Amino acid sequence: MPRHLAIIMDGNGRWAARRRRPRAIGHRAGARAVNLCIDWCVARGIGALTLFAFSSENWGRPEDEVGALMKLFMGALDREIDELDRRGIRIRFIGERTRFAPALQARMATAESRTARHARLALNIAVSYGGRQDIAAAARSLAEDVAAGRLRPDDIDEQLLGARVALAELPPPDLFIRTGGDVRISNFLLWQLAYTELWFTDTLWPDLDAAVLDRALADYAARERRFGLTSAQVAAPAPPDTDTLDA
Ligand code: IPE
Ligand code: IPE
Ligand code: MG
Repeated sequence: MPRHLAIIMDGNGRWAARRRRPRAIGHRAGARAVNLCIDWCVARGIGALTLFAFSSENWGRPEDEVGALMKLFMGALDREIDELDRRGIRIRFIGERTRFAPALQARMATAESRTARHARLALNIAVSYGGRQDIAAAARSLAEDVAAGRLRPDDIDEQLLGARVALAELPPPDLFIRTGGDVRISNFLLWQLAYTELWFTDTLWPDLDAAVLDRALADYAARERRFGLTSAQVAAPAPPDTDTLDA
């Protein structure tokens, strides 16, 4: 069972185009799939879900589409917060949130503080998020510590840097899913996905159903995660604890 699932929710625009509808309609349909996905994670006992909702690069889309997405985020937050709170879901946002309108930033902060004590599902929404920006911010923060004399350059290793990227408090994603048929990472969690199992489907995000997610889970369960070791090493049972044997 994955402890942490990360998803690129892609294909809203194409879903709408197939119906000869504006792209914003596809995004609205995509919001329904988000709820389905959350329900599925809760039902399967998956502890953490990270959803890519808006990338740093998506700011470059036509103004009306960006505007429609902002309206959708705002509406979804207003509508869903009570339900998330009631169900014991902790919501957090990662990304450069200062780029959002103050009203939206305030909604995000309220949603986070209202659900901060919950533990059933850690729901992370990546908005105005970019993996490169995330790593750059972590590097900047380390550099500030070095400049202030709190840290020596020699102290910097993958643990220290890894502690300053987004989601550092969670295990890295075990499983990554991208809908919409494209086989790429698109600047999602670059650092955090180092050993994540990747899974791609042609299903467009608004068409998501539990069967698709179950298929991803079944494929994941059949994979051998080796983390650079050999198959034999991974299969070997843990060596006995000699301290206990001696006692
Ligand atoms: C993903 O769907 C949602 C966002 C990026 C906000 P798209 O809008 O990228 O849909 P396609 O890829 O154009 O079909
Ligand atoms: C990735 O999808 C970002 C989100 C789903 C939020 P894009 O549609 O922006 O990615 P590209 O442009 O196809 O790589
Ligand atoms: Mg897309």
